[in-house]
Amino acid sequence: MSIRRIAIALIAAPLFLTPFAASADDGAQIAQGLCFACHQAGMNGAPKFGNKVAWAPRVAQGKDKLYENSIKGLRGMPPKGGGASLTDDQVKAAVDYLVKGSGGYPQ
Ligand code: HEC
Repeated sequence: MSIRRIAIALIAAPLFLTPFAASADDGAQIAQGLCFACHQAGMNGAPKFGNKVAWAPRVAQGKDKLYENSIKGLRGMPPKGGGASLTDDQVKAAVDYLVKGSGGYPQ
């Protein structure tokens, strides 16, 4: 096993093996490790992290719809962002992280 693979395994293991409900920290780790692959640069038309204008109409659909689309996938967005082994709660935590860094949910 190369150093790189060991490093990836060490980073990924706690993410994918934790049987508990996902925390905000999990959301940050998942978002930065997986979702940023598209959402940082805005690949495939993904709403860019931090871009309030791009996120506003999506957030306006309501949290439940955002969660549902993220879990099931939406056009250029694969189900769970491609993280098939993530639990629904982990995906939701990652959605919350992306939204909070991009203007947040309406109060
Ligand atoms: C392969 C690229 C890719 C990855 C990885 C990815 N996304 Fe996306 N995401 C997209 C694209 C493209 C869209 C825009 C889809 C559209 O509206 O056509 C999108 C849209 C979304 C939306 C808005 C959905 C809506 O209802 O408008 C949310 C929320 C979201 N992604 C969350 C996530 C989360 C959380 C992750 C990580 C678990 C993730 N994405 C990983 C490409 C990606």
